Amino acid sequence: MDKEKPRREIERLRKELEHHNWRYYVLDDPEISDAGYDTLIQRLAELEKKFPEYVTPDSPTQRVGAPPLGEFTQVEHRVPMLSLGNAMDEEETREFDGRVKRFLNIPESGKIEYVAEPKFDGLGVELVFENGLFTVGSTRGDGVKGEDVTVNLKTIKSIPLRLRGKAANMPRRLEVRGEVCMSIKDFEALNREREKKGEPLFANPRNAAAGSLRQLDSSVTAGRPLDIFLYAPGSVEGWRFSSQWEFLQQIPVWGLRVNRHIRRCAGIEDAIAYGAEMQKMRDTLPYEIDGIVVKVNEFAFQERLGTISRSPRWAIARKFPPRQETTRVIDIVAQVGRTGAITPVAIMEPVRIAGVEVQRATLHNQDEVDRKDVRVGDTVVVQRAGDVIPEVVKVIPGKRPAGTKRYVLPSKCPVCGAEVIRLEGEAVARCTGISCPAQLKEHIRHFASRRAMDIDGLGEKLIDQLVDSGNVRSVADLYFLTGEDLVPLERMADKSASNILEAIDKSRQTTLERFVFALGIRHVGEHIAKVLATAFGSIEKIQRAGEEKLRSIREIGPQIAQSIKTFFSQKGNIAVVQRLRKGGVRWKTPAKATRGRLAGKTFVFTGALEKFSRDEAQSLVEQAGGRASSSVSEKTDYVVVGTDPGSKYEKAKKLGVKLLTEKEFITLLGKS
Ligand code: IVH
Repeated sequence: MDKEKPRREIERLRKELEHHNWRYYVLDDPEISDAGYDTLIQRLAELEKKFPEYVTPDSPTQRVGAPPLGEFTQVEHRVPMLSLGNAMDEEETREFDGRVKRFLNIPESGKIEYVAEPKFDGLGVELVFENGLFTVGSTRGDGVKGEDVTVNLKTIKSIPLRLRGKAANMPRRLEVRGEVCMSIKDFEALNREREKKGEPLFANPRNAAAGSLRQLDSSVTAGRPLDIFLYAPGSVEGWRFSSQWEFLQQIPVWGLRVNRHIRRCAGIEDAIAYGAEMQKMRDTLPYEIDGIVVKVNEFAFQERLGTISRSPRWAIARKFPPRQETTRVIDIVAQVGRTGAITPVAIMEPVRIAGVEVQRATLHNQDEVDRKDVRVGDTVVVQRAGDVIPEVVKVIPGKRPAGTKRYVLPSKCPVCGAEVIRLEGEAVARCTGISCPAQLKEHIRHFASRRAMDIDGLGEKLIDQLVDSGNVRSVADLYFLTGEDLVPLERMADKSASNILEAIDKSRQTTLERFVFALGIRHVGEHIAKVLATAFGSIEKIQRAGEEKLRSIREIGPQIAQSIKTFFSQKGNIAVVQRLRKGGVRWKTPAKATRGRLAGKTFVFTGALEKFSRDEAQSLVEQAGGRASSSVSEKTDYVVVGTDPGSKYEKAKKLGVKLLTEKEFITLLGKS
């Protein structure tokens, strides 16, 4: 077969795609439609599939599809990634200029050339190009070491996988720094989508960008609309830049994206004027910026100026003041979230902040309300830093009318009337009602999940329909559903209805520990559910147990005990448990773990064992009625020490926990 033709076509397609990428992302001036681009990339993918020997790492098809990582590896930055000193106003910006001149022995009347740039509110990263090929990308991290996020960065289309131009016309090795950002529009769309799916929202575009980039599975990152602006060189080999301005002019030639609102300034006053302009423009920009950065242009000057305490003497960030307004609090309401968290929310006279009308602002939790002492009737300062949820910054005390009262969250859930508790050491108050309508869908989702009651096919969409149609008002109602309830639902044929009923029926036969876990009691995860099931043996006994009794059990601390006690002290919750049993949910009485040589004993392993793997050793302990834990505490009975033990060994010694060699452990197990 003639392979020359496809090879040439692959090459041509790649060049063409790279060209269009550059037109679109760097020049902001596309020459073809999105559909046209898609056609080209599909053709390329097709050819590469047929001729895998022609796939190269810089092919546009290689942006996605990397297997998920277990963890990020660390990357050391050759040149530390510094932070910036701040100038809070014009005066401080002039002082910066004064310092620069004094250091360089330039008379006060002289002028320094600066480059002024937006200060992007995103995530700092470094990209490394070796002979034009994008090889490594990392986060800023602590400035010295960051995380290797190469595969995630490859999914960002404004990052070229290979620099444009001939190898002779580019550095042998180029490190460039920049900011990964998400546009405000994309951020809002992403959050709308997440809200629909019941996923937690990102607080602002920066968090959304950071969260998206720090994904172990790059296919998640690929689905997030990220962008990059490059603004600084790292270590560069085989090329010399003489100034920041030259750098910013040169890198787009290689296909690297630079923001268009950069400016060369003939002196500090120009830079200050630029700052004022950008501040005015701020709300019209597609990206969140939180200030400007002013940099001495000449690299020779930058070198002489050097750095002081991790910030360069040659640059400063002029931060914009946060966007705040004042308004009046009309009411404070308690909002019940999907997971039962109760959040105080201030309802305010509507006010526009940065182009968005605001009339609700979170007060976070009771501690925050107490700290700020926000009351109905107060005039407050409200802030919106590109955040979804505006926030009350402070009260203006002089404007407080007479007769206001401190706000306290209700002790009963405003949605279902169940008890509200705030567990020891937690900031958040929560509703404890198992059938609370605000949490019902989430409760059912958990209840039906694989490790709980394991009801196959009871997915989110169906849960939505069952709850919205009023057929299911508590998890127990699931066990009273009939075909007649199901068939009228959307996309529910007779067959799928009977499949669901069958799955529900199958789940009736369960175990006590699964059942306890399925109830969704706060802090009662799978493991604690198992502990409870083993210790008590029946749901009635767990229900009746007082806090004291609960706390006497190994691994059950005051917080968990309080949570369990509050849950079972409510008639509504007990009624659901009874109705579940009436609906046919049943289990065999679990065997008490009083048998076995190691009953009631907790083991921790450290270092390598000779005869077993860690997993084998742990399951031997469990088979003998004991428990294997991963961390050492006062409650640990034995620490088994293998070769090259870690910090657990030190801790065990410190706490005086009994240490065992592998041989002693085997003896204890009763095996040899
Ligand atoms: S230059 C030492 N330029 O701000 C020079 N940084 O507070 C620092 N940042 O970690 C890098 N926009 O992530 C530079 N136009 C810009 C920037 C910028 C945002 C971030 C960057 C850095 C942080 C320093």
